[in-house]
Amino acid sequence: MPVERLVPVRTARCGALTSSDIGREVTLAGWVHRRRDHGNLIFIDLRDRSGIVQVVVRPEESPEAHASAGDVRSEFVLAVTGPVIARDAANLNPNLATGQVEVVAKRLVVLNKSELPPFPLDEQEATASEELRLKYRFLDLRRAPLQKNLVIRHRIALETRKYLDEHGFLELETPILTRSTPEGARDYVVPSRVHPGTIYALPQSPQIFKQLFMVAGFEKYFQIARCFRDEDLRADRQPEFTQIDIEASFIEPEDIYTLVEGLMRKIFAAAEIPYPGAVGRITYREAIDRFGSDAPDMRFGVEISDITAMTPGMGFPVFDKAVTGGGVVRGIVAPGCARYSRRELDELTDHAKRFGAQGLVYIKRGETEIQSPAMKFLGEPGARAILDRLGAKVGDLALIVADARTVAAKSLGALRLELARRENLRTGATWAMTWVDEFPMFELRPEDSSITPCHHPFTSPVSEDLQYLESDPLRVRARAYDLVLNGWELGGGSIRIHHEQTQRKIFTVLKMTPEQTEEKFGFFLRALRFGAPPHGGIALGLDRIVALLTGSTSLRDVIAFPKTTSAACLMTGSPSTFEPDQLDELHLRLAEGV
Ligand code: AMO
Repeated sequence: MPVERLVPVRTARCGALTSSDIGREVTLAGWVHRRRDHGNLIFIDLRDRSGIVQVVVRPEESPEAHASAGDVRSEFVLAVTGPVIARDAANLNPNLATGQVEVVAKRLVVLNKSELPPFPLDEQEATASEELRLKYRFLDLRRAPLQKNLVIRHRIALETRKYLDEHGFLELETPILTRSTPEGARDYVVPSRVHPGTIYALPQSPQIFKQLFMVAGFEKYFQIARCFRDEDLRADRQPEFTQIDIEASFIEPEDIYTLVEGLMRKIFAAAEIPYPGAVGRITYREAIDRFGSDAPDMRFGVEISDITAMTPGMGFPVFDKAVTGGGVVRGIVAPGCARYSRRELDELTDHAKRFGAQGLVYIKRGETEIQSPAMKFLGEPGARAILDRLGAKVGDLALIVADARTVAAKSLGALRLELARRENLRTGATWAMTWVDEFPMFELRPEDSSITPCHHPFTSPVSEDLQYLESDPLRVRARAYDLVLNGWELGGGSIRIHHEQTQRKIFTVLKMTPEQTEEKFGFFLRALRFGAPPHGGIALGLDRIVALLTGSTSLRDVIAFPKTTSAACLMTGSPSTFEPDQLDELHLRLAEGV
């Protein structure tokens, strides 16, 4: 005897019904999106993943269905059976994909009730606070924009798998409970119960393992990999995020560029966005000098110009101090911004200061008059010369920073973006994608002036710079590259070191003792001694890709269950406290006062 079904068999999807279904009897199941009660006539907008259709409930059609519909409220779960009919001409709804038709309920079963949701689910732009929506994430996810984002995320992941499979890549998994993998953030750690006083680290990336796959002869690896980084969070960072992680043997950067550009083409197609075409190339140095950032937003101009050479002899102490200290004088032109008020200029100055600048010099080019607080030093000819050199036209505003090279880049880069926001300058190309290459191998950590890798310590130096590794490490360039889209770093990768001795040298430059090197990376160095092939790869941030291609401003809008900027999950209440016996089992004791 067949087992009785408690849930009727669905024969159609709400959002898929069209005029061609008219006359069909269908069974739908979904949630009550909206309900309107006209006494005798009840309208229910029924929603499933595919969309919404209007259900009409009339007592003359089915008194039972009409009675059940009387109690129905928003977000109740229903199964509805009845014919699809054409709507009256007066009731056509052009705003709804199914607006030509409606379903007449002959049978209506309430599969479950719902409490009143704490915020409306039928809004395109949410009005409730993000805090409330994160607490009720399972409800927020019912909203159409979030549903759409996660569908696009799925399609992008699927196309990625297909593409990489077609190109001979194997999807291989790597451990989550592992040793520290250095990517420049703090580790999330898991204490071991079995080995008292020891911890596993969660991977900041699968970097070491994917290189070991190359040593193991797999040649082409990929993984849609979860990574964990305990770092300061921003709109484009989450503590756990997903990479499209790729590694291949016997390749050069050009091979990676070609592979990834082909992948990006598929990814744009998966998001139904025309591929922007040519991907630019720029060196790190040029990106910093022209745009003040290694992830330049190239959808608009306002490029940085260097005026250091013209400043000696101008008699402006601010410039002189920077130049004699080995710094630079650089500026940008804010088009049409000579009209800015005192307050607006103060805001820009504060913005520059947030990025390290000691101050901001401005010069306004009016119809006849030139205005600047530095006028008494520069004099009219000096100010005019600067405006001319920067390319400022009548009505423009020149903004100048005199400082250390890095500070000038950072603060002018930030001002550039701020001006784009204020003046809506991003009106040109919708998409600007570029490779940034020739990164430095190391950078100085401002906190303690120690040397750290710009990328990670497994990156291969440019061979002609190997000679400076010990004598002048900051001069060494890396065989590393980033992919940047609209000012977001989408991905980063490099050709790796495959000789043990070079790898050891890098650890030495990083001031690791032989003992520390052995303890942390002994297994890896051992692997390099057994015929490690030349190899390299890249990792693309899947969350960032989906965010950009769905027009989302935060990664939280493209991750099903994200964390807040303080790394908390408001829905589950994680992180949560230890149970006392858990602490005992893990051989842990909390510090006083915790
Ligand atoms: P990298 O550290 O540059 O390289 O990371 C690669 C890409 O991952 C994304 N990403 C993040 N996305 C969201 N939240 C975060 N906290 C976060 N951190 C990074 C970015 C970034 O470009 N192992 C190397 C790759 C390699 O060398 O092959 C690595 O992880 O989009």
